[in-house]
Amino acid sequence: MSPRSCSPVSPSSVSRSDLVAALEHARERTEGLLDPLSDEQLTRQVSPLQSPLVWDLAHIGHFEELWLLRRVGGRSAVSPKFDDLYDSFAHPRDERGRLPLLSPEAARAYVREVREAVLGLLPELSFNGGDPLLERGFVVGMVVQHELQHAETMAQTLALAGLHAREPQQEVTASGEVVVPGGPFTLGSTDPWAYDNERPAHVVDVPPFRIDRALVTNGEYAAFVEDGAAAPPGWDPVARPHAPVQHISFDEADAYVRWAGKRLPTEPEWEKAAKTVAGELEHLTGAVWQWTSSFFDGYPGFSAFPYAEYSEAFFGSDYRVLRGGSWFTDPLVARPTFRNWDLPQRQQIFSGLRCARDV
Ligand SMILES: [Fe+2]
Repeated sequence: MSPRSCSPVSPSSVSRSDLVAALEHARERTEGLLDPLSDEQLTRQVSPLQSPLVWDLAHIGHFEELWLLRRVGGRSAVSPKFDDLYDSFAHPRDERGRLPLLSPEAARAYVREVREAVLGLLPELSFNGGDPLLERGFVVGMVVQHELQHAETMAQTLALAGLHAREPQQEVTASGEVVVPGGPFTLGSTDPWAYDNERPAHVVDVPPFRIDRALVTNGEYAAFVEDGAAAPPGWDPVARPHAPVQHISFDEADAYVRWAGKRLPTEPEWEKAAKTVAGELEHLTGAVWQWTSSFFDGYPGFSAFPYAEYSEAFFGSDYRVLRGGSWFTDPLVARPTFRNWDLPQRQQIFSGLRCARDV
Protein backbone atom coordinates (compact mmCIF):
# COMPACT_ATOMS: atom_id res chain seq x y z
CA MET A 1 0.00 0.00 0.00
CA SER A 2 1.42 3.34 -0.97
CA PRO A 3 1.87 5.78 1.92
CA ARG A 4 -0.24 8.50 0.29
CA SER A 5 -3.22 6.29 -0.34
CA CYS A 6 -6.36 6.66 1.73
CA SER A 7 -7.68 3.29 0.64
CA PRO A 8 -9.35 1.62 3.60
CA VAL A 9 -7.79 -1.77 2.89
CA SER A 10 -4.42 -3.02 4.09
CA PRO A 11 -2.12 -5.31 2.10
CA SER A 12 -2.66 -8.27 4.35
CA SER A 13 -6.33 -8.23 5.19
CA VAL A 14 -9.61 -6.52 4.52
CA SER A 15 -12.71 -6.34 6.67
CA ARG A 16 -16.27 -6.33 5.41
CA SER A 17 -16.99 -3.17 7.37
CA ASP A 18 -14.14 -1.42 5.47
CA LEU A 19 -15.65 -2.53 2.17
CA VAL A 20 -19.14 -1.36 3.19
CA ALA A 21 -17.69 1.99 4.31
CA ALA A 22 -15.91 2.42 0.96
CA LEU A 23 -19.09 1.61 -1.00
CA GLU A 24 -21.10 4.03 1.13
CA HIS A 25 -18.47 6.74 0.75
CA ALA A 26 -18.63 6.52 -3.05
CA ARG A 27 -22.45 6.61 -2.98
CA GLU A 28 -22.42 9.71 -0.77
CA ARG A 29 -20.30 11.51 -3.36
CA THR A 30 -22.68 10.49 -6.16
CA GLU A 31 -25.77 11.53 -4.21
CA GLY A 32 -24.12 14.76 -3.09
CA LEU A 33 -23.82 15.74 -6.75
CA LEU A 34 -27.13 14.45 -8.09
CA ASP A 35 -29.68 14.81 -5.28
CA PRO A 36 -30.06 18.60 -5.64
CA LEU A 37 -30.78 18.33 -9.40
CA SER A 38 -34.11 18.42 -11.22
CA ASP A 39 -35.20 15.70 -13.64
CA GLU A 40 -34.53 18.09 -16.52
CA GLN A 41 -30.97 18.64 -15.34
CA LEU A 42 -30.43 14.90 -14.91
CA THR A 43 -31.71 13.95 -18.37
CA ARG A 44 -30.18 16.79 -20.42
CA GLN A 45 -27.31 16.10 -22.81
CA VAL A 46 -25.15 19.06 -21.79
CA SER A 47 -22.36 18.40 -24.29
CA PRO A 48 -21.57 15.77 -26.94
CA LEU A 49 -18.49 14.98 -24.81
CA GLN A 50 -20.53 14.02 -21.75
CA SER A 51 -23.35 11.59 -20.99
CA PRO A 52 -26.68 12.72 -19.55
CA LEU A 53 -26.19 12.45 -15.78
CA VAL A 54 -28.97 9.88 -15.49
CA TRP A 55 -26.96 7.61 -17.82
CA ASP A 56 -23.92 7.84 -15.51
CA LEU A 57 -26.14 7.06 -12.52
CA ALA A 58 -27.69 3.89 -13.97
CA HIS A 59 -24.31 2.88 -15.49
CA ILE A 60 -22.78 3.03 -11.99
CA GLY A 61 -25.51 0.67 -10.80
CA HIS A 62 -25.12 -1.59 -13.83
CA PHE A 63 -21.36 -1.92 -13.33
CA GLU A 64 -21.97 -2.84 -9.68
CA GLU A 65 -24.64 -5.34 -10.67
CA LEU A 66 -22.46 -6.86 -13.39
CA TRP A 67 -19.36 -7.37 -11.28
CA LEU A 68 -20.67 -7.97 -7.76
CA LEU A 69 -24.12 -9.50 -8.17
CA ARG A 70 -23.69 -11.41 -11.43
CA ARG A 71 -19.99 -12.20 -11.84
CA VAL A 72 -19.18 -12.77 -8.16
CA GLY A 73 -22.63 -13.57 -6.77
CA GLY A 74 -23.91 -15.65 -9.69
CA ARG A 75 -27.24 -13.76 -9.77
CA SER A 76 -29.26 -13.29 -12.95
CA ALA A 77 -29.60 -9.92 -14.68
CA VAL A 78 -32.05 -7.34 -13.28
CA SER A 79 -32.93 -6.44 -16.89
CA PRO A 80 -31.21 -7.84 -20.02
CA LYS A 81 -31.76 -4.48 -21.79
CA PHE A 82 -29.30 -2.75 -19.46
CA ASP A 83 -26.33 -4.71 -20.85
CA ASP A 84 -26.63 -2.72 -24.05
CA LEU A 85 -28.03 0.59 -22.76
CA TYR A 86 -25.42 1.08 -20.08
CA ASP A 87 -22.37 -0.43 -21.81
CA SER A 88 -19.97 2.45 -22.45
CA PHE A 89 -18.57 0.73 -25.56
CA ALA A 90 -21.99 0.10 -27.13
CA HIS A 91 -22.99 3.77 -27.33
CA PRO A 92 -20.75 6.85 -27.65
CA ARG A 93 -21.50 9.65 -25.21
CA ASP A 94 -23.08 11.94 -27.80
CA GLU A 95 -25.91 9.46 -28.56
CA ARG A 96 -26.77 8.45 -25.00
CA GLY A 97 -29.31 11.27 -24.66
CA ARG A 98 -31.39 9.64 -27.43
CA LEU A 99 -31.47 6.16 -25.84
CA PRO A 100 -34.55 4.87 -23.98
CA LEU A 101 -32.85 5.41 -20.63
CA LEU A 102 -34.38 4.81 -17.22
CA SER A 103 -36.06 7.89 -15.79
CA PRO A 104 -34.26 9.60 -12.87
CA GLU A 105 -36.70 8.00 -10.42
CA ALA A 106 -36.28 4.52 -11.94
CA ALA A 107 -32.48 4.91 -12.13
CA ARG A 108 -32.36 5.86 -8.44
CA ALA A 109 -34.53 2.86 -7.55
CA TYR A 110 -32.28 0.57 -9.65
CA VAL A 111 -29.00 1.66 -8.02
CA ARG A 112 -30.64 1.33 -4.58
CA GLU A 113 -31.90 -2.17 -5.41
CA VAL A 114 -28.44 -3.26 -6.59
CA ARG A 115 -26.75 -1.79 -3.53
CA GLU A 116 -29.13 -3.52 -1.12
CA ALA A 117 -28.47 -6.85 -2.82
CA VAL A 118 -24.70 -6.22 -2.70
CA LEU A 119 -24.82 -5.51 1.03
CA GLY A 120 -26.72 -8.77 1.45
CA LEU A 121 -24.11 -10.65 -0.61
CA LEU A 122 -20.94 -9.36 1.08
CA PRO A 123 -21.20 -11.57 4.20
CA GLU A 124 -21.24 -14.66 1.94
CA LEU A 125 -17.92 -13.83 0.25
CA SER A 126 -14.38 -14.81 1.19
CA PHE A 127 -11.79 -12.11 0.50
CA ASN A 128 -8.72 -14.11 1.39
CA GLY A 129 -9.45 -17.40 -0.35
CA GLY A 130 -7.13 -17.16 -3.35
CA ASP A 131 -9.62 -15.92 -5.98
CA PRO A 132 -7.74 -12.96 -7.56
CA LEU A 133 -10.99 -11.11 -8.23
CA LEU A 134 -11.94 -11.21 -4.55
CA GLU A 135 -8.50 -11.13 -2.97
CA ARG A 136 -8.28 -8.32 -0.44
CA GLY A 137 -11.55 -6.94 -1.76
CA PHE A 138 -10.19 -6.09 -5.21
CA VAL A 139 -13.50 -6.30 -7.08
CA VAL A 140 -15.27 -4.19 -4.44
CA GLY A 141 -12.42 -1.68 -4.70
CA MET A 142 -12.87 -1.66 -8.47
CA VAL A 143 -16.60 -0.92 -8.13
CA VAL A 144 -15.92 1.82 -5.55
CA GLN A 145 -13.25 3.47 -7.71
CA HIS A 146 -15.46 3.20 -10.79
CA GLU A 147 -18.22 5.11 -8.99
CA LEU A 148 -15.79 7.75 -7.70
CA GLN A 149 -14.31 8.19 -11.18
CA HIS A 150 -17.80 8.63 -12.65
CA ALA A 151 -18.53 11.17 -9.92
CA GLU A 152 -15.67 13.24 -11.33
CA THR A 153 -17.01 12.80 -14.87
CA MET A 154 -20.41 13.98 -13.60
CA ALA A 155 -18.75 16.97 -11.90
CA GLN A 156 -17.24 17.87 -15.31
CA THR A 157 -20.73 17.71 -16.83
CA LEU A 158 -22.09 19.94 -14.06
CA ALA A 159 -19.23 22.39 -14.56
CA LEU A 160 -19.99 22.54 -18.31
CA ALA A 161 -23.67 23.17 -17.48
CA GLY A 162 -22.75 25.96 -15.05
CA LEU A 163 -24.29 24.01 -12.16
CA HIS A 164 -21.18 23.29 -10.11
CA ALA A 165 -18.06 25.11 -9.00
CA ARG A 166 -15.50 24.67 -11.70
CA GLU A 167 -12.20 25.78 -10.20
CA PRO A 168 -9.49 24.53 -7.89
CA GLN A 169 -9.62 26.53 -4.66
CA GLN A 170 -5.88 26.32 -4.05
CA GLU A 171 -3.39 29.13 -4.53
CA VAL A 172 0.08 28.34 -5.81
CA THR A 173 2.75 29.49 -3.35
CA ALA A 174 5.83 27.45 -4.32
CA SER A 175 8.37 28.50 -6.91
CA GLY A 176 11.56 27.22 -8.51
CA GLU A 177 12.59 23.71 -9.50
CA VAL A 178 13.78 20.51 -7.89
CA VAL A 179 16.57 18.44 -9.42
CA VAL A 180 15.64 14.77 -9.28
CA PRO A 181 18.85 12.72 -9.39
CA GLY A 182 19.21 10.03 -12.04
CA GLY A 183 18.95 6.36 -11.19
CA PRO A 184 16.51 3.51 -10.81
CA PHE A 185 13.16 3.63 -9.04
CA THR A 186 10.08 1.38 -8.98
CA LEU A 187 7.36 2.49 -11.42
CA GLY A 188 3.90 1.10 -10.74
CA SER A 189 1.99 -0.30 -7.83
CA THR A 190 1.53 -3.29 -5.57
CA ASP A 191 -1.54 -1.69 -3.91
CA PRO A 192 -4.21 -4.42 -3.71
CA TRP A 193 -6.75 -2.06 -5.27
CA ALA A 194 -4.45 -0.77 -8.06
CA TYR A 195 -5.71 -1.19 -11.62
CA ASP A 196 -4.11 -3.53 -14.14
CA ASN A 197 -2.52 -0.54 -15.93
CA GLU A 198 -0.47 0.26 -12.78
CA ARG A 199 1.01 -3.24 -12.82
CA PRO A 200 3.41 -4.89 -12.76
CA ALA A 201 5.55 -2.65 -10.58
CA HIS A 202 8.99 -2.66 -12.20
CA VAL A 203 12.33 -0.90 -11.90
CA VAL A 204 13.00 1.90 -14.39
CA ASP A 205 16.21 3.90 -14.79
CA VAL A 206 15.37 7.59 -15.16
CA PRO A 207 18.10 10.11 -16.11
CA PRO A 208 18.33 13.24 -13.91
CA PHE A 209 15.77 15.96 -14.63
CA ARG A 210 14.37 19.18 -13.20
CA ILE A 211 10.71 19.56 -12.30
CA ASP A 212 8.85 22.67 -11.12
CA ARG A 213 7.79 22.78 -7.49
CA ALA A 214 4.55 24.47 -8.54
CA LEU A 215 1.77 24.11 -11.05
CA VAL A 216 1.43 26.70 -13.83
CA THR A 217 -0.87 29.50 -12.64
CA ASN A 218 -3.55 31.56 -14.38
CA GLY A 219 -1.21 34.55 -14.13
CA GLU A 220 1.63 32.71 -15.86
CA TYR A 221 -0.71 31.33 -18.52
CA ALA A 222 -2.03 34.86 -19.16
CA ALA A 223 1.33 35.86 -20.67
CA PHE A 224 1.02 32.93 -23.10
CA VAL A 225 -2.52 34.01 -24.03
CA GLU A 226 -1.28 37.59 -24.56
CA ASP A 227 1.26 36.07 -26.95
CA GLY A 228 -1.57 34.61 -29.06
CA ALA A 229 -2.58 31.32 -27.40
CA ALA A 230 -6.29 30.53 -26.97
CA ALA A 231 -7.82 31.21 -23.56
CA PRO A 232 -9.15 28.15 -21.71
CA PRO A 233 -12.98 27.86 -21.58
CA GLY A 234 -14.66 29.88 -18.84
CA TRP A 235 -11.37 31.56 -18.00
CA ASP A 236 -10.96 34.66 -15.83
CA PRO A 237 -7.24 35.05 -15.01
CA VAL A 238 -7.77 38.41 -13.28
CA ALA A 239 -10.05 36.84 -10.67
CA ARG A 240 -7.50 34.31 -9.40
CA PRO A 241 -4.05 34.90 -10.90
CA HIS A 242 -2.31 32.60 -8.37
CA ALA A 243 -4.67 29.63 -8.81
CA PRO A 244 -3.52 26.73 -11.01
CA VAL A 245 -4.64 27.12 -14.62
CA GLN A 246 -7.34 24.57 -15.51
CA HIS A 247 -9.19 23.14 -18.54
CA ILE A 248 -5.93 22.97 -20.50
CA SER A 249 -5.72 20.35 -23.27
CA PHE A 250 -2.58 18.30 -23.84
CA ASP A 251 -1.94 20.23 -27.05
CA GLU A 252 -2.14 23.54 -25.19
CA ALA A 253 -0.01 22.25 -22.31
CA ASP A 254 2.62 21.05 -24.76
CA ALA A 255 2.57 24.41 -26.59
CA TYR A 256 2.87 26.30 -23.28
CA VAL A 257 5.93 24.39 -22.07
CA ARG A 258 7.68 24.89 -25.42
CA TRP A 259 6.84 28.60 -25.31
CA ALA A 260 8.29 28.71 -21.78
CA GLY A 261 11.49 26.95 -22.91
CA LYS A 262 10.61 23.83 -20.91
CA ARG A 263 8.85 20.50 -21.50
CA LEU A 264 6.26 18.26 -19.88
CA PRO A 265 7.52 15.55 -17.54
CA THR A 266 7.33 12.00 -18.83
CA GLU A 267 5.12 9.65 -16.87
CA PRO A 268 8.06 7.88 -15.17
CA GLU A 269 9.54 11.27 -14.27
CA TRP A 270 6.27 12.44 -12.70
CA GLU A 271 5.93 9.26 -10.66
CA LYS A 272 9.58 9.27 -9.62
CA ALA A 273 9.19 12.85 -8.37
CA ALA A 274 5.99 11.86 -6.53
CA LYS A 275 7.73 8.91 -4.89
CA THR A 276 11.13 10.44 -4.09
CA VAL A 277 10.76 14.24 -3.67
CA ALA A 278 7.06 14.59 -2.82
CA GLY A 279 7.89 16.83 0.14
CA GLU A 280 9.45 19.38 -2.25
CA LEU A 281 6.50 19.58 -4.64
CA GLU A 282 3.27 21.52 -4.11
CA HIS A 283 -0.16 20.20 -5.21
CA LEU A 284 0.91 16.76 -6.40
CA THR A 285 -2.74 15.84 -5.95
CA GLY A 286 -5.87 17.75 -5.03
CA ALA A 287 -5.58 20.70 -7.45
CA VAL A 288 -5.58 19.75 -11.16
CA TRP A 289 -4.67 16.68 -13.20
CA GLN A 290 -1.22 17.14 -14.69
CA TRP A 291 -0.45 16.27 -18.29
CA THR A 292 2.61 14.16 -19.02
CA SER A 293 4.26 13.71 -22.42
CA SER A 294 3.69 9.94 -22.33
CA PHE A 295 1.23 7.95 -24.41
CA PHE A 296 -1.05 5.59 -22.49
CA ASP A 297 0.33 2.09 -22.82
CA GLY A 298 0.84 -1.11 -20.84
CA TYR A 299 3.87 -1.62 -18.63
CA PRO A 300 6.23 -4.48 -19.63
CA GLY A 301 4.51 -7.73 -18.67
CA PHE A 302 1.04 -6.08 -18.61
CA SER A 303 -1.87 -8.43 -18.40
CA ALA A 304 -5.49 -7.24 -18.61
CA PHE A 305 -7.39 -7.85 -15.37
CA PRO A 306 -10.23 -8.32 -14.92
CA TYR A 307 -11.38 -6.97 -18.32
CA ALA A 308 -9.62 -5.45 -21.33
CA GLU A 309 -12.09 -2.56 -21.75
CA TYR A 310 -10.88 -0.67 -18.69
CA SER A 311 -7.38 0.10 -19.94
CA GLU A 312 -6.06 -2.09 -22.73
CA ALA A 313 -8.64 -0.88 -25.26
CA PHE A 314 -7.11 2.62 -24.95
CA PHE A 315 -3.43 1.68 -25.28
CA GLY A 316 -1.44 3.12 -28.18
CA SER A 317 -0.68 6.58 -29.52
CA ASP A 318 -4.14 8.20 -29.26
CA TYR A 319 -4.25 9.03 -25.56
CA ARG A 320 -1.87 10.96 -23.29
CA VAL A 321 -1.49 10.26 -19.59
CA LEU A 322 -2.40 12.67 -16.81
CA ARG A 323 -1.17 12.19 -13.26
CA GLY A 324 -1.97 13.46 -9.78
CA GLY A 325 -5.67 14.18 -9.36
CA SER A 326 -7.91 17.23 -9.40
CA TRP A 327 -9.68 19.24 -6.71
CA PHE A 328 -12.60 16.84 -7.19
CA THR A 329 -10.70 13.52 -7.33
CA ASP A 330 -11.31 11.33 -4.31
CA PRO A 331 -8.16 10.49 -2.27
CA LEU A 332 -9.08 6.82 -2.67
CA VAL A 333 -8.38 7.19 -6.41
CA ALA A 334 -5.57 9.77 -6.37
CA ARG A 335 -2.66 7.47 -5.49
CA PRO A 336 0.74 8.44 -6.93
CA THR A 337 0.66 5.49 -9.34
CA PHE A 338 -2.88 6.14 -10.67
CA ARG A 339 -2.94 6.70 -14.43
CA ASN A 340 -5.59 8.89 -16.03
CA TRP A 341 -5.69 9.39 -19.81
CA ASP A 342 -7.49 11.46 -22.38
CA LEU A 343 -7.34 12.61 -25.99
CA PRO A 344 -4.85 15.44 -26.62
CA GLN A 345 -7.51 18.00 -27.59
CA ARG A 346 -9.80 17.49 -24.57
CA GLN A 347 -10.27 20.39 -22.15
CA GLN A 348 -13.49 19.61 -20.29
CA ILE A 349 -11.47 17.70 -17.69
CA PHE A 350 -9.97 19.41 -14.63
CA SER A 351 -6.50 19.46 -16.15
CA GLY A 352 -3.48 21.72 -15.84
CA LEU A 353 0.26 21.31 -15.95
CA ARG A 354 3.62 21.32 -14.23
CA CYS A 355 6.80 22.02 -16.22
CA ALA A 356 9.98 19.96 -16.37
CA ARG A 357 13.40 20.43 -17.97
CA ASP A 358 16.51 18.43 -18.74
CA VAL A 359 19.38 18.90 -16.34
FE1 LIG B 1 -17.84 3.41 -16.43
